[in-house]
Amino acid sequence: MRGRYLQVILGAILVVGSLKTAVATETDNKTGEFVATKEWQVIKEGQAIPKGLHVRINMQTGLKEAKLLDEDERGTALQSQPEDHNHENEPLSLDYKPDLIEESLRIVKENKKSYAELRKAYKEFQKNFRTDGELIVQLIDQYRNFSKTPQESEVRSKLESLENLEYLLHQIDNALLFIDNSGLDDVLLPIVVNDTNTALRVSALRVLGSLASNNPKAQIKVFEKNFGSHIAQILISSGNSGEISAALHAFGALLRKFPLAQQRVLSTSGTQAMIRVLQSPEVELRSKSKVVTLISDLILEKRSVLETSKDAPDAASTIAQYVLLEFEPWLQSQGFCSAVDSVLSKDFLHLLELPEVVEQFATALETTESLCAASWSQNSGLRHALLTIRNRYANSQDEYRLEVSQVLVKLCERLFSKPKHTEL
Ligand SMILES: *[C@@H]1O[C@H](CO)[C@@H](O)[C@H](O)[C@H]1NC(C)=O
Ligand SMILES: *[C@@H]1O[C@H](CO)[C@@H](O)[C@H](O)[C@H]1NC(C)=O
Ligand SMILES: *[C@@H]1O[C@H](CO)[C@@H](O)[C@H](O)[C@H]1NC(C)=O
Repeated sequence: MRGRYLQVILGAILVVGSLKTAVATETDNKTGEFVATKEWQVIKEGQAIPKGLHVRINMQTGLKEAKLLDEDERGTALQSQPEDHNHENEPLSLDYKPDLIEESLRIVKENKKSYAELRKAYKEFQKNFRTDGELIVQLIDQYRNFSKTPQESEVRSKLESLENLEYLLHQIDNALLFIDNSGLDDVLLPIVVNDTNTALRVSALRVLGSLASNNPKAQIKVFEKNFGSHIAQILISSGNSGEISAALHAFGALLRKFPLAQQRVLSTSGTQAMIRVLQSPEVELRSKSKVVTLISDLILEKRSVLETSKDAPDAASTIAQYVLLEFEPWLQSQGFCSAVDSVLSKDFLHLLELPEVVEQFATALETTESLCAASWSQNSGLRHALLTIRNRYANSQDEYRLEVSQVLVKLCERLFSKPKHTEL
């Protein structure tokens, strides 16, 4: 709830600010006026600032900063709204003290009149304070207000809205509220399906990942809106690693612990899409390692459910769903085994520099060994790659590389220690 916390802090600052106005304008005029621009600027001690600015505490420096509101920022909870028009043009003098409560108390003590002011300002603050729910509804409304034809000038505001949503929709209730207010249809689908702007698609995919993560009800809605095949389409066509990474995150969030979606999405374009990412020469290794990790996780999920619910009497329908899921045969028929060995054979020099990627591949190789061992054990390119990495890491000073080399030692023994490879 960092955002809420920030809102409260900012609200409190603004309350103190309003109070101070009443006291300060009659008495002193310490410094020159603050000239706001579109960029954040530090507010000096005691400096007066005009009303209606976006004010924040810079968390790095602890200094207070202000800037003009962007047109599209109006109405989010992170600022005071200049609703009391009688004071519209009065500057606010803000004496920043780190401890806001102390500061409020000091003002109250200094001036009896301030208590009434404090109440008034607090009421004002409450009136303008928005709950997450109100904020979400407002962000969706704001989105509906954008023009139907994509406009370059609106991209920045859209990205900001999506960023706020990504943060808010981690919360299960917020995600469901977003869905109930047609957020999937009105905000996310049009971007994911049709938008030509990559940055917007990446942000929308992040929002999707955020709202579907560990949220079964949201997963069902996302599945019903057919996002699975839209994401698969993006995986098939994109060459942008940011987009592939966001798409994989959303894909995983949709599929994990949801055997019905796994069945539908992976039996159609989903498996092919992931393997396509592995095969694509322009996709970087880190994205490929995310693919094999997701594949490995999904396989392990099925194994673990079948293992642990064996004796549970009420697990029959769950077991049935997983039993019908034939992910491994689909992987095999779509060329998973050769896709993996060609990534490793071709890119192993590059992999030497990326032990965490090697580790992810090694885990995935272990998980899918029963599926691919027959072809991998015959593959001299793969053998050369794995042995080279194993040997290089085994001679490293780096503990992490040494650990990864241990995993590779076992893997290579199992894959390549057939009698004809006794030279190992
Ligand atoms: C406050 O100070 C500024 C700059 O020093 C000056 O321009 C302005 O007239 C002063 N205002 C009052 C009310 O004294
Ligand atoms: C959307 O547009 C309508 C009509 O112009 C306006 O009344 C409303 O305040 C706008 N909503 C947001 C959130 O900007
Ligand atoms: C995508 O664009 C097509 C063609 O303009 C349109 O028919 C379709 O409704 C759009 N889909 C979404 C989800 O906006």
